[in-house]
Amino acid sequence: MAHRPLIAPSILSADFARLGEEIHAVAGGGEIGADTRADWVHVDVMDAHFVPNLTLGLPVVQSLLKATDLPLDCHLMIEDPDRWAIGYAEAGAYNVTVHAEAAKDPVKIAKDLRAAGAKAGLSVKPGTPLEDHLDALKHYDTLLVMSVEPGFGGQSFIAEVLGKVRDARRLVDTGHLNVLVEIDGGINADTIEQAAEAGVDCFVAGSAVYSAADPGKAVAALRDLAANAQH
Ligand code: DX5
Ligand code: ZN
Repeated sequence: MAHRPLIAPSILSADFARLGEEIHAVAGGGEIGADTRADWVHVDVMDAHFVPNLTLGLPVVQSLLKATDLPLDCHLMIEDPDRWAIGYAEAGAYNVTVHAEAAKDPVKIAKDLRAAGAKAGLSVKPGTPLEDHLDALKHYDTLLVMSVEPGFGGQSFIAEVLGKVRDARRLVDTGHLNVLVEIDGGINADTIEQAAEAGVDCFVAGSAVYSAADPGKAVAALRDLAANAQH
């Protein structure tokens, strides 16, 4: 590993009335490769069934795709992703992540997402073992390890999930799995280094980016911390 860590600000903590501007605040002035430019924008889709919260859905994602050239990383915390995930890929999302706990046929979902031109992501909640989903993961591009219970921003990091990150890192480094390891929940300047040491490639950060006075600078600072902590 030891490549440039990816930072994916979560707009869950942004001002929903100004989403376009909030994304521009992490676009590095439009300059590709700028330190203050996010790598992906993380979009939390919640349906008030799989999780107790309700956020936004496909129409908003379609509008965001027109408002930015940053890749959209759509995290679907919804029931029946077998039915709904494909629409996000067809709309042009870069990566579409479904929850292992909600997917009935995760292999078919991954194949459909890829056929529609997106990367396919599989997410596990903090209490969900990786072993149960290793076969399905062979069909995926990203593994999203939740480090909080999904549903809300601003929660505390659950360090116990780093065991799963280390296991996934080992499987990737030994060629048994080919996913990018992403972490989501409670990532900030105090927690990102331990996640980077454990082998995370892509870091989602909501409140740490959008509660900062300058979200772009927060992106750069988080990436620096992760890069220095990587092996
Ligand atoms: C939680 C969401 C996260 C959330 C992270 O269910 O999936 O993406 O926005 O927010 P922070 O970084 O504040 O924990
Ligand atoms: Zn998320």
